[in-house]
Amino acid sequence: MMKKLHHNFPLKNLNTFGIDAFVKQYFSFSEEHELLDFLHTLKKNPQPFFILGGGSNVLFTKDFEGTIIHPQNKGISIVEENEENVLVQVRAGEEWDDFVAWAVDHSYYGVENLSLIPGNVGASPIQNIGAYGVEVCQVIEKVKAIDIGTGNEKWFAKNDCNFGYRSSIFKTELRGKFIITEVFFRLQKQGQLNFSYGTIKDELAQFPDINLKNLRQAVINIRQSKLPDPAVLGNAGSFFKNPVVPAKKAGSLLKTYPNMPNYPAESERVKLAAGWLIEQCGWKGKRIGNAGVHEKQALVLVNHGNATGAEIADFSNKIKVSVEEEFRIILETEVNIL
Ligand code: FAD
Ligand code: EPU
Repeated sequence: MMKKLHHNFPLKNLNTFGIDAFVKQYFSFSEEHELLDFLHTLKKNPQPFFILGGGSNVLFTKDFEGTIIHPQNKGISIVEENEENVLVQVRAGEEWDDFVAWAVDHSYYGVENLSLIPGNVGASPIQNIGAYGVEVCQVIEKVKAIDIGTGNEKWFAKNDCNFGYRSSIFKTELRGKFIITEVFFRLQKQGQLNFSYGTIKDELAQFPDINLKNLRQAVINIRQSKLPDPAVLGNAGSFFKNPVVPAKKAGSLLKTYPNMPNYPAESERVKLAAGWLIEQCGWKGKRIGNAGVHEKQALVLVNHGNATGAEIADFSNKIKVSVEEEFRIILETEVNIL
């Protein structure tokens, strides 16, 4: 069995930016009781800690002087089934896309649009992962978590999670308070495929027919054509969130920039495309030292080699400043900066 506790542990292979940072203490668990025992010892020796999943939405700007807890508990099981749907229990350490592949193989509908998103199932509720017109909150039924302070188990029904665009209670009020150990998904046996977003329809036109497997493949094809593969070029996907602004603000920008992408959002607000804003400021494909902006997607910052996290964070600040100067819009980071 793999050793669970390490000191002065390298994180380079545990974050998709490929940042060469170290953590003072690293603990991974495959069984929940191991986690509970560990939380006991942590309580006696309080220190900063961080929960690390697949490391695909984090930027380490320095060594972490505390403990990293890395859930590696696995398992996908159907816990309820009727004619229409199944309730699937998935442990936090499962890779997200392995779960999507499993669902599509079993002809269960609901997560196909979320194909090829990196990371683990335990992190999927944190920022309510989304892509191609679907957010994971649409299929989450409940979440099981452990209170880090007490070791007690707590269940969150979907409505307790305050899901929003790239947000949840776990990223806001309860940030750093709970470790998600299991997520329960309600998947449908007969589903409505959702291929209205962007270029999916065009991509699907190249397949002989429209079905679950082909939709998954179409999403994979589009993603591979514009997002860098972290194994080749370090990155954490979109570095910033897309800004959601009052309709009035969007309207006045559209007078100056009639081609600006914009999408209606809740409460008379409009979502703008941060990638477009960044591209307009001239950053697409630019590079400063080892940090860069991806040439095909300006919302993705990349590590061209041995960039430090601080270099990438500095670059992101330059981008933020220029978008604010040009558009009076303050970009919010999506990536968790440590
Ligand atoms: P990590 O990066 O390890 O952690 C992310 C956050 O979640 C941290 O705050 C961490 O503390 C917390 N966390 C992780 N696991 C747990 C747990 N079990 N309990 C409590 N807290 C936890 N995201 C999208 O939404 N849509 C996309 O289309 C998308 N595309 C991407 C493409 C690429 C190429 C990359 C590199 C990233 C992309 N992302 C996308 C971002 C990323 O994949 C998601 O945010 C993913 O959910 C992160 O999972 P992770 O396991 O790597 O989490
Ligand atoms: N655009 C540009 N220039 C760019 C990038 C984008 O003009 O360099 C324009 C596109 O032409 C399009 C619009 O911006 O009109 C939106 O672009 P795209 O469809 O590529 O999506 P995005 O808004 O940049 C979001 C998510 C992605 C998700 C895709 C697909 C956020 C922050 N990002 O990106 O999620 O995969 O939509 O649904 O919401 C992530 O969160 O890490 C992530 C990759």
